[in-house]
Amino acid sequence: MDAQRGEPGTTLEVLEDTPALVSAAATTMARLMERAIRERGRCTLALSGGSTPRPVYGRLAAGELADRIRWRDVHVFWGDERCVPPDDAASNYRMAREALLDHVPLPAENVHRMHGELDPPQAAADYEAQLRRFFAGRPPLPPTARFDVVLLGLGDDGHTASLFPGQAAVRETERWVLAEYVEKLAAWRLTLTPVVLDAARHVVFLVSGTGKAEALRRVFQEPRDVDAVPAQAVRPSRGEVTWLVDRAAAGRLEPR
Ligand code: 6PG
Repeated sequence: MDAQRGEPGTTLEVLEDTPALVSAAATTMARLMERAIRERGRCTLALSGGSTPRPVYGRLAAGELADRIRWRDVHVFWGDERCVPPDDAASNYRMAREALLDHVPLPAENVHRMHGELDPPQAAADYEAQLRRFFAGRPPLPPTARFDVVLLGLGDDGHTASLFPGQAAVRETERWVLAEYVEKLAAWRLTLTPVVLDAARHVVFLVSGTGKAEALRRVFQEPRDVDAVPAQAVRPSRGEVTWLVDRAAAGRLEPR
């Protein structure tokens, strides 16, 4: 396991291959979820979309790990969503439902999906209102969306969640959820903003494959430039960041 890099509270773990990465990610998530439930009686978990997490969700949903987690005390949210209906093949909700939610005894009311089928700005406003209700502080404390675990991926262009290079969302300082038309995708996306990502107790990045090696190198070895490398924007002030990557994705990192 590589030593810590860069920011305090940031750990980079390089796993030999994808199966080892999947296993480490599922185990790490289960450990963090159990800790949240033990310490606070519940776990608030924000899931990532894309393809990398799918086998991790499958591992969490089966066998020994699934049995360890008190699913009735887990609340599932999403870090981002495509603006499509929930049964669309591109839906991050659908992927998580098929790989995880349909296989564990998590109450339906604990599933807090982003409504990608709605008008995007309306869907973003609705989700933010839902988060502010769920994470309402005890007055006069303001609400703070402090997730126990946030799972994120890394795009080959350095994006994370749906914070894409050159888009405004990466610099948002007030709103918790934004809808953005992503030029390079010619599609609308919903995304948590850095305001929420930086409030997390624990962020786990999951990165696999040689296709991500340049993006990972930029994250760790280029000066911070959040417009160019949005994943660099994620710096929880009172939280930890664990990067779980396979050796292929780490191929361009300078050895410690
Ligand atoms: C999404 C994700 C996105 C993803 C990266 C990596 O909605 O697509 O949230 O941020 O994590 O694009 O995707 P892969 O895991 O498919 O490489």
